[in-house]
Formats: sequence, structure tokens, C-alpha cells
Amino acid sequence: MKIDLHTHILPERWPDLVEKFGYPGWVRLDHHAPCRAKMMIGDRVFREIEDNCWSPARRIEDCDRTGVSVQVLSTVPVLFSYWAKPADALELSRILNDHIAGVVRGQPSRFIGLGTVPLQDPDLACRELERCVRELGMPGIEIGTHVEPNTFTGRSEHWNLNEPALLPVFQTAERLGACIFVHPWDMVGKERMPKYWLPWLVGMPAETSLAICSMIFGGVFERVPKLRVAFAHGGGAFPFTLGRIEHGWKVRPDLCAVDCKVNPREYLARGDGRPARFWVDSLVHDADALRMLIRQFGESRVCLGSDYPFPLGEKEPGRLIASMHELGADVVDQLLGGAARALLGR
Ligand code: CO
Repeated sequence: MKIDLHTHILPERWPDLVEKFGYPGWVRLDHHAPCRAKMMIGDRVFREIEDNCWSPARRIEDCDRTGVSVQVLSTVPVLFSYWAKPADALELSRILNDHIAGVVRGQPSRFIGLGTVPLQDPDLACRELERCVRELGMPGIEIGTHVEPNTFTGRSEHWNLNEPALLPVFQTAERLGACIFVHPWDMVGKERMPKYWLPWLVGMPAETSLAICSMIFGGVFERVPKLRVAFAHGGGAFPFTLGRIEHGWKVRPDLCAVDCKVNPREYLARGDGRPARFWVDSLVHDADALRMLIRQFGESRVCLGSDYPFPLGEKEPGRLIASMHELGADVVDQLLGGAARALLGR
């Protein structure tokens, strides 16, 4: 049983949102060739995609070829639209969530869906989260690593995930028994990264560590003790810099421990077998890094994640895990399925 926690999907078509809402910035698809489309923002090509981004049949073909039993579907982060008017972002969220729920209904043994919510408006986000879980039967949602400023609401500051306004979203998820998959987007420092794909190579790992540290230092895990949370890309830069983060907490508690007194390392796995407080996916492309993740988090907190169908992902999901011959069968079972089942509550 191989569950791929980290895969993205889009509808093949959706309404012209620039026309519908009357302002620019929305993503549209330009189906310029058979089985291919360009994701466009205005005149700019954001990304070229293939039909495996929207076609369930094509995805199942790929899964059958690579031995993936179940794909967990989430939207493509550029569609979070946290920058937009809250009501409009809600409308797009509903389109995307209804689409994902429909794909899951078509092949319930092969797909599990995660929703998206307009995080710039925590009230609307809580309501859509509740609809995702209660009406659409989803086990949780995917959210971004922060919420960018919003000209429509007049908010000029970024919200990191320790922002008090976001706490009701986490509390609602906890109450519903829903999990949260945190995926980097709108990468920190991107204005200094015009070349070399650096927002993806440097910005995303930093962004994810920023999200994890915000939740730890902000005491979020203490306020929602039962909430199940996972972070993409192996937790980004966090695992390798944990020593530095803990040292900072020890030497400058006046800066680091102002909102939460817990040593950051307490949230990781312990020698007595207790696993980490939160989950990460396995998408690190390096056996040494994955070994470290398993040691830091415990095998029951590291989920196979491939970022299908995008090129920075693992083309054959689980190949890295399979290449590590020192891992016992029970560890491999956890990484390929058990950890994700515990996260998803399935
Ligand atoms: Co991804």
C-alpha cells in the first residue's frame, strides 16, 4: 500500500476569473496544444503543464506504472489566492474543492482529497474547512506557509502561521479531526532571486522552516495539542538547522522563548520511541537527508510525498525509499503508507 501524500491537481477548465471578479492576478489555463496547457497570470506563463495535472485517468496510468495505490490530491499553491478579495478567493476555493471531491468520488479507492481555504479571511476559511470535512468528506486541507499582505482588506503585514488571527482555523481543524498539510508558497526573499529557479531551490526550504519555527515559537502546537500537521519537502531547511534553532532558543530565550517555553527539539522524536509532534513528507532527493528525517521524526511521521506531476518532484514515487536497503520492512511500510494513514486519520 503506497500512499503519495504530496500530489497536485487542477480542474481542466474553470471560469475566467479576471472577467468574473474584475481585476487581474488570477490564474487561467491556456490549452494551446493537445494534452498541454500553459498556466497564465496575465500575459506571463507561470508554468507549462500536461494533462496529468487534470486527468484522473492519466494519473491512474502513472500510479499503476509506479506502484502508487493512492494519491492525496491538493491544489497547486499558486491558486491559494490569499492576495485576493476574500469572497472571491472563497469562490475559487469552492470551485477547486468541489472539483477535487468529484475526482475522489470517481475513484474513491485511488484518490483522497485535501481542500483549500481563503486563509486571508479566517472566518470564511473556517466555514470552507468545515464544508470540506462535513460535506465533501475530506480528511483535511492544504494551506500555505504564510498569508501575504492584502490590498483589498487593507492589511499590509504578512501573517506567519503563529498569527493569532489564524488560530481559529487551527482550532476548527482540531475540533473536526482534520489534518493540515503546509506547503510553501510566495517564497521569502523572492525579490532577490530573479534567476536560477532560486525561489524553488532556496526560497521554498527557507519558507517551510519559517512556517515550522513560527508554529513552534508561537506556541501553536501547545494551543491545538491534537491537531495533525504535515510540512512539505521534508520540512525544508528546518531539520538540518534544528541544532542552530535549539541553540538560539537556549542562548537567547529573551528573543526565542517569549511565547512558548518548550525547547524546539521537544517536538522531534525521542530515543524512547515517541515520534515527532508533526509530520513531514519524504521529498528530499537525498538518502542522507532522508536518513536524518527518519531519525529526527520517526518513521511514523515521514510520509511518501512526490510533488507529482511537477519536475522538482520524485518522478518514480518512493524510489529513494526503495533504494535504501538498510531500512527494515516495517520502517518502509510506515514511510510508504502508515505515516500518511495516521496523518489523514484513514
Ligand atoms: Co508541491
